[in-house]
Amino acid sequence: MIVKQTTLQQLPADLDSARLPKHVAVIMDGNGRWAKRQGLPRIMGHRRGVDSLKDLLRCCKDWGICALTAYAFSSENWGRPLDEVNFLMTLFERVLRQELQEMMAENVKIRFVGNLQALPESLQAEISRSMTETRNNQGIEFTVATNYGARQEIVHACRAIAEKVQQGLITPEQIDESMFARHLYTAEQADPDLLIRTSGEMRLSNFLLWQVAYAELYVTNTLWPDFNRQEFHQALLAYQKRDRRFGKV
Ligand code: FPP
Repeated sequence: MIVKQTTLQQLPADLDSARLPKHVAVIMDGNGRWAKRQGLPRIMGHRRGVDSLKDLLRCCKDWGICALTAYAFSSENWGRPLDEVNFLMTLFERVLRQELQEMMAENVKIRFVGNLQALPESLQAEISRSMTETRNNQGIEFTVATNYGARQEIVHACRAIAEKVQQGLITPEQIDESMFARHLYTAEQADPDLLIRTSGEMRLSNFLLWQVAYAELYVTNTLWPDFNRQEFHQALLAYQKRDRRFGKV
């Protein structure tokens, strides 16, 4: 496993370990722009993006963060040039195959969320193998949103609940927030406390719309392939300065 950052392996002294986010979500944006700035094809940005993601996962583990969710491919990303889409699908598959042993050694529990049935079959097979093999791991929970769209996820949950009502299994009055959340792809997972977006865009881009209701948002101008432990450190410092009131005073 290539690790770009060897410094900052311990939690930096200016961070309070008791007030770290339990769950961090990340919108990894700016791979294409990074590549363009280096005079490289866009796909090189995605390749470097994988290194940033691996380092962030390791950093979360080193610093005691329990869960990381990354937006790898949105339902809208199919609209990209076919070559790029094919490259990404092959990249996901290859990375999964290459990293499974390491994830087992590091006790990572990986899961994928999104409309996985629409992915190439060979990728679906790797996804299912990695989820099955790591399912009993007790370390960091690593969720990869692939062919994911929050609106689609919400509609999917509504349909599942409507079917249960139609079958007489539940009544409309029994539907509440916690039941609804249990029908999302992220059922049984705690909501993210911190959502990081790189490349300066101030958008959620159809990512975890339900789950980030009370997440703290942190946007950095850094492009995803340049996102490193120092950047993550800054994001956590900003998070620890926030006063999380959850609508109370
Ligand atoms: C956004 O940058 C990035 C993506 C759509 C792909 C992100 C995927 C990875 C980093 C690989 C992750 C791998 C695994 C196995 C989970 P962009 O292309 O939209 O950049 P731009 O806005 O500068 O064009």
